[in-house]
Amino acid sequence: MSMPRQLKSNIYSVGAIDWDRRLFDELIPLPDGTSYNAYLVKGREKTALIDTVDSTMTDVLIENLNQLKIKNIDYVIANHAEQDHSGSLPQILDIYPNAKVVATPKCKDMLMDLLLIPESKFITVDDGNSISLGDKTLEFIHAPWVHWPETMFTYLKEDKILFTCDFLGSHLATSDLFVTDEPVVYEAAKRYYAEIMMPFRTTIKKHLERIKELEIETIAPSHGPIYDKPEFILNAYRDWVSDEVKNEVIIPYISMHGSTKEMVDYLVNALIKRGITVKQFNLSKTDIGKLAIALVDASTIVIGTPTVLTGPHPNVAYAAYLANALRPKLKFASIIGSYGWGGRMVEQLMTMVPNLKVDILEPVVVKGFPKEEDFKALDNLAEKILNKHQEHNIGKKRQKIWQR
Ligand code: FEO
Repeated sequence: MSMPRQLKSNIYSVGAIDWDRRLFDELIPLPDGTSYNAYLVKGREKTALIDTVDSTMTDVLIENLNQLKIKNIDYVIANHAEQDHSGSLPQILDIYPNAKVVATPKCKDMLMDLLLIPESKFITVDDGNSISLGDKTLEFIHAPWVHWPETMFTYLKEDKILFTCDFLGSHLATSDLFVTDEPVVYEAAKRYYAEIMMPFRTTIKKHLERIKELEIETIAPSHGPIYDKPEFILNAYRDWVSDEVKNEVIIPYISMHGSTKEMVDYLVNALIKRGITVKQFNLSKTDIGKLAIALVDASTIVIGTPTVLTGPHPNVAYAAYLANALRPKLKFASIIGSYGWGGRMVEQLMTMVPNLKVDILEPVVVKGFPKEEDFKALDNLAEKILNKHQEHNIGKKRQKIWQR
């Protein structure tokens, strides 16, 4: 579908909606598709294109520009070098030979490497630099590590629009140009944050402080709908990056013959009885994005695994690797599971999660099917988790309700 849409006078959305994409980076599930947003800003003297689209949808971008009868582009602003936003750059530069690519110095180097764009095509900008389009001014704000080292935001001063590329975006294919269904966008934006931005939580806090200086009426990301009420997404991010955790335990697990499942079910009930919210994920079936979302707020993770050869089940190792890479703000962790004749499952799992700054609560590992003393140990683990959450004032109100 090609159809440029106007955000404001002389500012158009010219990107593409990818309704059918179901996987990003051959890793991240996209249950709701995505979009690659690009924006055209026509000033009195100059014209700028902000970001491009994934190379698979270059034809949509070009058709949108044709429909707007754009004969000349002076600047292509590259907020981020990743190919879902830069993939169409070579073709755009062929069609609009006068265009210069405006990027941070790091972004320039990356685009030269990734897309073989010649150095002569670039104008590099420092933090705080701006470019005038005549009656419109684009100001560039270096914002490294959301989620690559070269990223920046572009602020259109006169119209008070902040173009953030990946930051604050959502993988959501929708015909809505602006956010209309907040709960749907909240879930998609939280998934996006969890999978892509969460490892950079500390840096994001600084960026959120920095953009407080700007008067922002609109946030235009390069994935998902545009925010005409910026506080909706800014408040959500403030919550996600805060140090607060919820009275929640997440239990990703695998069970091959039912022993670990029996332990998981028992522990889940023991935690529910204690007023703790539990999210259980069978890793052979779950959408890994749902697990990532749960990692945003949870205070405790309990990993459930059988022993395969001498270590954890490979699906559990994969989930542990992801959780470690995403650096969630978890405070406590434990492991439960079973074995047939021995192994080093607990020790191996521990070495896989060095980034998790957690207190380890005594694991419960049983030989074969769990017996009476094992269920007692699971009760003890649930009690320990409750005590730890209480000591840290996590979910105090909910626990009081349970104790009544
Ligand atoms: Fe949407 Fe980092 O690319």
